[in-house]
This record gives sequence, structure tokens and C-alpha cells, in this order.
Amino acid sequence: MNNELKIPNHVAIIVDGNGRWAKEKGMTRSEGHLAGFENLRDLSDYIFSKGTKILSLYVFSTENFKRSKEEVSFLMNLFVSKFKAEIKHFNEKNVKVVFSGRHENLPAAVIKAEEELSDATKNNTGGVVNFCLNYGGRAEIVDATKKIIKDNIDSDEITEELFSKYLYQDLGDVDLLIRTSGEERLSNFLPWQLSYAEFYFPDTYFPDFKEKDFDKALEVYSSRDRRFGGIKNK
Ligand code: FPP
Repeated sequence: MNNELKIPNHVAIIVDGNGRWAKEKGMTRSEGHLAGFENLRDLSDYIFSKGTKILSLYVFSTENFKRSKEEVSFLMNLFVSKFKAEIKHFNEKNVKVVFSGRHENLPAAVIKAEEELSDATKNNTGGVVNFCLNYGGRAEIVDATKKIIKDNIDSDEITEELFSKYLYQDLGDVDLLIRTSGEERLSNFLPWQLSYAEFYFPDTYFPDFKEKDFDKALEVYSSRDRRFGGIKNK
């Protein structure tokens, strides 16, 4: 294995396994999500401390609205309370927060909390957290296409670079994708941005995915030979 540690500029995480983590401990799914949030807070600080600049987090997919009313409502309230409570933390860490996803179907209080958090952190320069909330990857591509048409862009002008600017956020390609809990699916997460990403699928449930587990992910990432479709440099 190559000993040199490579640091991915853009890391994306599909937060998965909160419910199973709680069930194994005889706890409620809500307690699992709370544990997931606590872990996310510490883990994101650690990931930025390693030199990563952008962190995209799948915290609620458009499909997650199919869960029980109680669970959806718990998560929505958690978003509102934590987005408010974490403004200070993100500012101390100099992290800018942005959101990807549709407003449609979201409670007004969640939209307001998103806007307050992104506005309060918009001048931070130390890193970017991109919360993907009420997010769907195909919907993002459809929404980008609609905006391009609305802007009357000539079809000859449409390039990959231009298209990227019409996505919810223009944050560039993801370098490393992590999905916890042993599932090995993308579930409609960042299909455009993940085209050249390395994938890492640890068995660990998200609330147990700690600093040492991210170190392991970095080791695996560093050992991969990223050729972007070209020929290996010897
Ligand atoms: C997936 O685990 C997790 C979610 C759908 C919610 C993720 C949300 C958080 C960690 C809270 C984030 C909070 C803030 C404020 C950003 P699962 O429920 O699918 O687990 P399971 O597959 O084991 O049931």
C-alpha cells in the first residue's frame, strides 16, 4: 500500500444506520437520529481538520417523506432546533453552510432555519458543509435543466461546466463517497457530482463511525489509483 496519505477535497457521506444502531441498543429510532447528529457534529470537525474543504451530507432524501409521520416530524424538528443551535459552532469553525434540495413539502420552519443558518455563515472561508435535505439527484438535474431553459441559453452554449453552475450548489466533483451501515447503493445521491468519486462502504452504523473510521477511509482512498479514464502514470 502507498504510504502517502491523500486528502480528498470534497467528501460526501450518506448518513445511514441510525435506526438499526438504536434498535440493537433497545432505543427508539429518534434516539438513533439524535446520536447520528451528535456524531455528525464531531466527525465533521475532524474531517475539516484533516484538510478536506467540502463536506456534502445526505441527511434527508425526497423519498424519506415516506417514513412514518412521527419520524418525519421528529427529524424536521431536529433540523430546526439544531440549525439554530449550531450557528455559533459553524462560525467558530469558520465553516459556511449551504443547502441542496427542494423547498417543496418542507415545513416553513425548516426553510426559515436553513435560510438563517446559510445567511449567518455565508462569509466563512474555512470549509463548506452542504446539507442535502429533501434532496434527490434526478430532481436536481431536472431543476437545473428547467433553469437553463428559463434563462434562454442557446443549446450550443450548454457544456458540462455551464450545467454544473445550474446545480443547487456549484461545489465541484466529489472525491470520496462514504455510505455507512453496509449498504452499497447511491440512492439518488449526487449522481452528477459522483461521476469520478471513489466509493467506500464500511459496515459501521453511522453513530459509531468515528475519527478512527474516517482515518481508515482515508487510507483506503489513498491506496486507490485514480486515473479519471486516462492511463496510469508510471
Ligand atoms: C439514515 O439512517 C438517517 C437519516 C434518514 C437521517 C439522518 C439525519 C441525521 C443524522 C440528523 C442530522 C441532523 C442535522 C441537524 C443535520 P436510517 O434511519 O436510514 O437508519 P436505518 O437504515 O438503520 O433505519
